[in-house]
Amino acid sequence: MVLLQFPAGFLWGTATSAYQIEGAWNEDGKGESIWDRFAHTSGKIADGSNGDVACDHYHLWREDVDYMAQLGVNAYRFSISWPRIFPAGTGRLNQKGLDFYRRLVAALRERGITPMATLYHWDLPQALQDKGGWGNRDTAGWFAEYAAFLFQRLGGEIPLWITHNEPFVAAFLGHATGEDAPGLRRPRLAVQVVHHLLLSHGLAVRAFRQIAPASAKIGIALFLWPQEPATDRPRDMAAARRMDGLVNRQFLDPLFKGRYPEDLWRTYRTRFLAPKVASGDLETTAEPVDFLGVNYYTRMIHRASLLDPLLGAREVKPPAKRTLMGWEVYPQGLYNMLVRLKREYTDLPLYVTENGAAFADVAGPDGTVEDVDRLEYLRLHLGQAYRAIADGVDLRGYFVWSLLDNFEWAHGYTKPFGLLRVDFATQKRYFKASARWFAEVARKNAVEV
Ligand code: FCB
Repeated sequence: MVLLQFPAGFLWGTATSAYQIEGAWNEDGKGESIWDRFAHTSGKIADGSNGDVACDHYHLWREDVDYMAQLGVNAYRFSISWPRIFPAGTGRLNQKGLDFYRRLVAALRERGITPMATLYHWDLPQALQDKGGWGNRDTAGWFAEYAAFLFQRLGGEIPLWITHNEPFVAAFLGHATGEDAPGLRRPRLAVQVVHHLLLSHGLAVRAFRQIAPASAKIGIALFLWPQEPATDRPRDMAAARRMDGLVNRQFLDPLFKGRYPEDLWRTYRTRFLAPKVASGDLETTAEPVDFLGVNYYTRMIHRASLLDPLLGAREVKPPAKRTLMGWEVYPQGLYNMLVRLKREYTDLPLYVTENGAAFADVAGPDGTVEDVDRLEYLRLHLGQAYRAIADGVDLRGYFVWSLLDNFEWAHGYTKPFGLLRVDFATQKRYFKASARWFAEVARKNAVEV
């Protein structure tokens, strides 16, 4: 056994998002979001469920903060529901919604837990979807206004802010594959949505610099999964490189280099998919941030394939240990991604803003779960995070997805990711073995491997 000691001040946290845990979908003046609408549409969610109640965190938040204190974590990443603050997206404030987050943040701080707030984790006000959603350039401006309002009201109390969670997923699963809200299948629109999401990010960062105290920091959390070739044949390598353009560089380049990847844009242009970009937009998307959030779960492997009309790539899934999501357990990819970010993009501080695993948990008679698979998944990934730090990556924190079993989007409640098990019939929470283990990690600021 070796004890890997993490740097002093390292943040150990858990992550959640509003729609996945809060419930109270129409209480205290909250407006409808695109996820409310989508989950209420029959056939969209695997188990026919929705987030109407979810973990009932809107009512049980005090208890949940107590659980975090018991876990001994020193950070918590959550998201703010835009339609809870502005039910119609713009205009009238819902004071009760703001009060909810203000109380949550105060309770966290009282317990020495650093809040990290995400402004957009996919729950756009339905009223704005009715005006074209993220396909409408105005939505970028409305997002910046919503963000600026929160910087004014909570900027002094929340030291770490994230504009967007995984714009890749919001754009493509929401607007190209239709798996997520708003459930559209319009590839050209999806590409335009990418641009508007990135634009809204830059506008929000600009507002942040004018409003928030200098001690507060802002960044973005990206879906960053390595896209690897099935073989070292040039055509497979080229296919993987194209996928990397779509999944990773499409976001990293405009954020850190102020341009879109040339290869991807050539493809978009020849397929008439290139979005409208106004002059100055790419200066906005590249507005300097303070940190980058990395959401890492697995890698994807591709072969060249003529069957895929857009990028000529087909995903393959060789035998491997996989989670309940079908995702390969591939800890090495976390190290590779962190080191790549430093080499190719930025020396800024990084946070692992999400990492975790769904497994088929079996509750014992006392309600707890001996989730050895999840514990092992986390342990292996932390080993790789440590390696990256040892190799010079400025990694400042690690957030487990997730604090609680919750509503896993189109999978409903069928994919438990929590450190804490939730019995949805009683809303009781139980520490899993991984939670007890993670508490030790946080206490020692070290991981035993
Ligand atoms: C990420 C999402 C998060 C959760 C995990 C499993 O893509 O950001 O909300 O669904 O995957």
